[in-house]
Amino acid sequence: MGDFDLVGITPAATVQATGMDTGPVLLMIRNAVAGIGEGDVLEVTGGDDGLADDIGGWCRLNGCEVVASLDGGVDRTWLLRKGPTAPAWEQPDWGISLPRRDGRRIDLRDWFEGRAGDVPDVAPTYYGFVPRGAVAEPGMPAYPFTLNTKADVWADNIAGLYEQAKSQQWNASEDIPWDRLEPLPEPVERAVCQIMTFLAENEYAALYIPAKFLPRINARFVEPVLFLATIINDEARHIEVFTKRALANGGGLQYSAAMTEWSLQSLLLQEDYFKSSFLLHVLGEGTFLDLLAFIEHHAPDPVTAEIVRRARLDEGRHVAYGIAHVRQQLRHDPTRVEELVASAEERSAVLQATTGVNPPVLEALTILGGGGSSPEQRRRGGGAVRDLHRSMDDYRIRRMLQVGLDLPTAQKISQLHTPNFM
Ligand SMILES: [Fe+2]
Ligand SMILES: [Fe+2]
Repeated sequence: MGDFDLVGITPAATVQATGMDTGPVLLMIRNAVAGIGEGDVLEVTGGDDGLADDIGGWCRLNGCEVVASLDGGVDRTWLLRKGPTAPAWEQPDWGISLPRRDGRRIDLRDWFEGRAGDVPDVAPTYYGFVPRGAVAEPGMPAYPFTLNTKADVWADNIAGLYEQAKSQQWNASEDIPWDRLEPLPEPVERAVCQIMTFLAENEYAALYIPAKFLPRINARFVEPVLFLATIINDEARHIEVFTKRALANGGGLQYSAAMTEWSLQSLLLQEDYFKSSFLLHVLGEGTFLDLLAFIEHHAPDPVTAEIVRRARLDEGRHVAYGIAHVRQQLRHDPTRVEELVASAEERSAVLQATTGVNPPVLEALTILGGGGSSPEQRRRGGGAVRDLHRSMDDYRIRRMLQVGLDLPTAQKISQLHTPNFM
């Protein structure tokens, strides 16, 4: 620091950069400038010829002034004064201690403290992956997030749902009593295998759709991102467990109807998160709650019953998120109800071109519902399937009322809903 005793300036900080390239030195200078006060002086020594060329321009762009420069022969030295327009880092939080729940836990809902707890209504894209609450250096790059408002993705119950999702995880290898699977009459095993094929097929859509939207969510809204990650893991487990059941007991994967693929494709191609949440979580997975309850009720073996019972608990969380999210979005902007009607109409129009029924699945549900394939069992099964369709319609309407739709709109949308259930 001795070089400038002559001019009577004492630097507040120094950057020693002998032998270093210009790029890293400019970063060191930027960091050092951020750490000193306005009017303070930074001493920089070293660098290459490029630094000598660039330092003046860098100072002009970054609100600093070169107050002296000295060619010491081997190394050059500069004194830079920080001006009032220099980018400043804010002060990070310090001294925060999250409370312990029950004396030991820290739940997600407990972390809303200080800057970390400050969830903005609108988030810029240039915070990227900076954890919410950290102090970001000025000049960050923009990220390709498209869901940049809280209303786009939030749900009031999100922290609680995330907590539930973690504590209710299960393992499709270990937690299903696979050893209790006994041979079944062929028509019944075929029916179970057909239903498992259909369920697995739908689970692919349930996995791919949140996976598609997750990277579009601004990372300021990390709670919905974490929750979507649990949905994706749930759906992976559902694909696994339904496929395993089809393969486990002397049957195998059965038929896939084109109508199912058209229906799922129309869901996958929906690029609007609000409409997609409504179609997938409220209508599709909502309808699946009733389907899974039907399968559990009529399951011919304890393994099938346990699989759909567990899957249904998982789906309940997905539906709860969808209902809370869409309801909140509609409160935020009630005119968006028109988009929901339109999304159901568009999808119904796409599916008009298909047969609108899935004979293998309806047959399988009939056999399951009647307990076998004799005429009497089919008659009983047919009645059970008609009741299932009625209760699906009924509960779909109830869920839409919870979301905030009026009864005529809910009835109309329920009628338009895909015969594929999802
Ligand atoms: Fe699922
Ligand atoms: Fe789901």
